[in-house]
Amino acid sequence: MDVNPLRDGLRIEPSPGPTTIVIFGASGDLTRRKLLPALYRLSVEQRLPPRFSVIGIARTPMDDEGFRGQFREAVSVDRQSEVATSFERCLHYMPGELDDPAVYARLCDQIQGDAHGNGVLFYLAIPPAAYSTVIERLGAAGLTHQKTPRDWRRIIVEKPFGSDLGSATALNALLHQYFDESQVYRIDHYLGKETVQNLLVFRFGNGMFEPIWNRRYIDHVQITAAETVGVETRASYYENAGALRDMVQNHLMQLLTLVAMEPPIAFTADSVRDRKMDALLSVQPLVNRKLGTSSVVRAQYAAGWVDGHEVPGYRSEPGVAQSSVTETFVGLRVQLDSWRWAGVPFYLRTGKRLPKRTTEIAIQFKRPPLEIFKRATSASVAPNLLIINVQPDEGISLRFEAKLPGTRMQLSPVMMNFRYGSTFGGDVPEAYETLLLDAMIGDSTLFARHDFAETSWGLISPVHDAWGEAVARSIPQYEAGEWGPAEAGRLIEGDGRRWRTL
Ligand code: BG6
Repeated sequence: MDVNPLRDGLRIEPSPGPTTIVIFGASGDLTRRKLLPALYRLSVEQRLPPRFSVIGIARTPMDDEGFRGQFREAVSVDRQSEVATSFERCLHYMPGELDDPAVYARLCDQIQGDAHGNGVLFYLAIPPAAYSTVIERLGAAGLTHQKTPRDWRRIIVEKPFGSDLGSATALNALLHQYFDESQVYRIDHYLGKETVQNLLVFRFGNGMFEPIWNRRYIDHVQITAAETVGVETRASYYENAGALRDMVQNHLMQLLTLVAMEPPIAFTADSVRDRKMDALLSVQPLVNRKLGTSSVVRAQYAAGWVDGHEVPGYRSEPGVAQSSVTETFVGLRVQLDSWRWAGVPFYLRTGKRLPKRTTEIAIQFKRPPLEIFKRATSASVAPNLLIINVQPDEGISLRFEAKLPGTRMQLSPVMMNFRYGSTFGGDVPEAYETLLLDAMIGDSTLFARHDFAETSWGLISPVHDAWGEAVARSIPQYEAGEWGPAEAGRLIEGDGRRWRTL
């Protein structure tokens, strides 16, 4: 592997102790697409402990060999590769029904046998409806109990974490019956993205940005998570979710709080998450008695063209009801009640079948207080803009005004760009690699805490309640390949601003 000199020797990375990962849902999509490839990359990078094993559990009848074959398919490894062969030897499989106590008894034997003394990480890669069964069975079998710090027990819970405030609260209560909060890792893969973590470094590892990171200098913030894909084969989940649950309650709220939080006193899980919680608690309710849900717009994609291909409308996708009013796009205006942010709107938008796949955070600064170049230029100066490009072209850009070369005083906005790829080389780790490693190490900084999940649902659920109550259950449409509905434009234009053209 090439060593990038810019990365070499920057810090000593903590490494996990002996670990066994138990994946519930081992024959499923998430295990194949994300978990096995991420674990394999960690093994290639020599980040896994010498005593490491995976026990996959699922209903599909299969043996260890079958599971290993699934891994080979997932990462298309070279059969001769030594790393792959030794990684494969760590993979084990146990077929069984998730509600069968015998499965957990076998698991106990295995953990007390081969994996004796290992820390155990349970991974719920199963549909949310099965979470409670597995948590209860693990608890009943005594598998959640950690006797010493070395043979720790932790659990990773995939999203969606609940579908509303009530179900998220109930899930937290169930988890807390068997696990201490410090053992629970609620995953939000956005927190594992490099640029999202870099936002913390950008804000708190530099001295010059923090003093201007407030209502005095910032006009507004825009957070966009745009996708070109449609609902694909996920209608059975998405029909009951929609963009607000699927993207805003978790990913976008996480991004918002990272932008809005106060500086933590240290880079520890609790300090960081305490400050994020403060920011989340300062968010004004999205539904208000006088204005209803007017700060949230929703829409659904109709047929159109994306990436040069004609694509069907949402209602014609397989598994979607003809009369579905599930939203595939949402735009929101969020206000925060805090000294730092009072009066600074955060505009959020996310959607499927938009023209471009891009996730970015744009901080728009206020214009200079005095336009002293007014005589030189007819257009007013463009406000400074800081763009944190989360994906796909990870980086940070700053827009500022410069003088156009020439004898006349003419102004033009220019960009200063930092790109991860060109600065540090292209091998940015996948979010799941970072998050799996952190969970093995016991660092929960990049995972959602119980109060974050509930408070975020507390903001989102009233919107669903209000939508559900709307007499006419209809939904605006936008053509696939457009930037959402006209209503989204009006939401921001009503404030004298506009969405960035991406
Ligand atoms: C998932 C959502 O959490 O995030 C998907 O369920 C969405 O609907 C995906 O497509 C987006 O993730 P990323 O990393 O591609 O931005």
